[in-house]
Amino acid sequence: MFTIKEVSLDDFLLVNEYKNEFLLSNEEHIQGAAGLLQTDTLTWIKERSLYKNKDTLPNKNFVPAHTFIAVINNKMVGVINIRHELNDFLFNFGGHIGYSVSPSERRKGYASLMLKQAIEFSITELGITELLLTCDSENIASIKTIISCGGILENQIQEDNRLTNRYWIKN
Ligand SMILES: CC(C)(COP(=O)(O)OP(=O)(O)OC[C@H]1O[C@@H](n2cnc3c(N)ncnc32)[C@H](O)[C@@H]1OP(=O)(O)O)[C@@H](O)C(=O)NCCC(=O)NCCS
Repeated sequence: MFTIKEVSLDDFLLVNEYKNEFLLSNEEHIQGAAGLLQTDTLTWIKERSLYKNKDTLPNKNFVPAHTFIAVINNKMVGVINIRHELNDFLFNFGGHIGYSVSPSERRKGYASLMLKQAIEFSITELGITELLLTCDSENIASIKTIISCGGILENQIQEDNRLTNRYWIKN
């Protein structure tokens, strides 16, 4: 059964397997894993609870965030990170929510399922009624995911050779 849950130390092995799959598939620079690929797994899990609160943020340049993992049949298939607020960078390029699905589990609808549940959590638990979602203009899978959850394109922002699509989901 597909579930999303806040990550805890009990999930160490699942998170490590998820991370290893990215590293083995040469996707180590992928977005949407909340820094997992650049951090050792234990530290990453421990820091997730600290990021939930402004007073305990491990990095004061970051905004508070909730991180959920998607699990099916005791395998972690995705991660989704909900930022409680936007700073200048997030307003232009990052948005409220980042997500990824493991390479071997794509095109099964998991990203759309994760995003739907994250939107529900943002509204009911965080009180965020207007969510900004962004993605690279060439990221077809992410564009479709955002649109399937009601995203309306506001504009595109050019930086260097990259074009970022900015969508709002309003409830
Ligand atoms: C973007 C990502 C999370 C999508 O995950 P996913 O679980 O494969 O997405 P879903 O199965 O829910 O598919 C969502 C939609 O995209 C489509 N899609 C998925 N992969 C696709 C691809 N490679 N090419 C075209 N369409 C694709 C699906 O058909 C579906 O469309 P539909 O709603 O019309 O049926 C995944 O590709 C990923 O982790 N990419 C790397 C990290 C990343 O880019 N994160 C987003 C940063 S903004």
